[in-house]
Amino acid sequence: MNQKLDEVFRYCSGEFFCEDVSVASLAERFGTPAYVYSQAAIARNLRRLEESLRDIPSLICYSVKANSNLRILSLLRETGAGFDVVSGGELARTLRVGASADRIVFSGVGKTPQEMDAGLAACILIFNVESAGELEVLEARARALGKRARMAIRVNPDVVAQTHPYISTGQIVHKFGVPKEEALELYKRAARSPHLEIHGVACHIGSQILEVEPFLKALDEILSVATQLRENNIPVEYLDLGGGFGIRYAEEQPLDFKQLVRGVGERLRGTPYRLVIEPGRALVGDAGILLARVLYVKRNQQKNFIVVDAGMNDLMRPTLYGSYHEIVPARQRPGELLLADVVGPLCETGDFLAQDRTLPDVQPGDLLAILTAGAYGFVLSSNYNTRPRPAEILVDSAHAELIRPRERLEDLMAGEEVGGR
Ligand code: LLP
Repeated sequence: MNQKLDEVFRYCSGEFFCEDVSVASLAERFGTPAYVYSQAAIARNLRRLEESLRDIPSLICYSVKANSNLRILSLLRETGAGFDVVSGGELARTLRVGASADRIVFSGVGKTPQEMDAGLAACILIFNVESAGELEVLEARARALGKRARMAIRVNPDVVAQTHPYISTGQIVHKFGVPKEEALELYKRAARSPHLEIHGVACHIGSQILEVEPFLKALDEILSVATQLRENNIPVEYLDLGGGFGIRYAEEQPLDFKQLVRGVGERLRGTPYRLVIEPGRALVGDAGILLARVLYVKRNQQKNFIVVDAGMNDLMRPTLYGSYHEIVPARQRPGELLLADVVGPLCETGDFLAQDRTLPDVQPGDLLAILTAGAYGFVLSSNYNTRPRPAEILVDSAHAELIRPRERLEDLMAGEEVGGR
């Protein structure tokens, strides 16, 4: 039934396990809803990318937005990753876990002067600049602080990548990057400033991309910009291909990363460039699940609904992108199957985790695991309907650690006043 299950998330005598811990015992200990992450899976995912890239001078900068829990960042730092950040907040998180600044790249279309100041103070590896206006502000901030900003320009390669339209970023109709025709002019402007240091060319074409071809097309585009730069006496060291490496949620074939690396290797052989990639989902996506408890099972003439204690505020992907997440029971039991929507408690019809899914005929009190929820799960959660955000738990072999406690109602009301007299 589920090809998703691997050596990390698996059944053992009918009980669903994360590494050597049964998820039922986690629910007992920490309550639900809860995100559960496997340390081994995160380490394995990073190791696989590193091994594939063995023959290419490269830097893996984990895209913090996918899952920014400090323990996870710390784990990735210890295992050798650099970081891709998109806000002052994400930068602060990476510095908090002791990331070395020369492994941090700062992306994003709307960096504020304050965020630039924080990056300059930390002496980060590269700011990926996305517009002429941003270049001006970065140069002004570097001048004011008496610094030199190390930078690249994020080029919009105008490449079509098949994915959900909300997370496709590499076409000219998208807000991201600088059109490739305008990049050279901007680089020349940057080269004239004593406060800007040009180090690379960057792009990012989207997320959850399953085909190799668009990445190679994008690489060809930034390579051609890098060549133009050399011809203009502006040599660069880094080519940042961004992230977006697609994983398996359902039946789809994940991106063939090895094939991508072969294509990248062919293009970079004999060049002076160092590759940067910014994977988020590929490192943490399949390393996490959301654990939820069944509250009620409702049936009417047309539909069955399994109402669980996690909702769209906890895992927004199904509502926002129509994303598919496999759902499995924490305890396998033979018997009837049920065609149902798995829905949350929130007051919106869009509050669902799955639609028209065939599941075991669960009962109130049963536990369900929503799989492949390690990326863009907790980080996209909200307090809508004044719902405390879930606990986060990290499993390492037989050991489970609470890495973020469930929020309390006091946390949610902090800073607000009843007012009046
Ligand atoms: N680099 C940049 C500049 C990005 O904008 C992103 C993701 C990444 C790297 C990492 O992409 P990844 O390797 O994780 O695909 N919330 C959506 C995904 C949004 C991705 C935004 N940018 C989802 O749940 O599918």
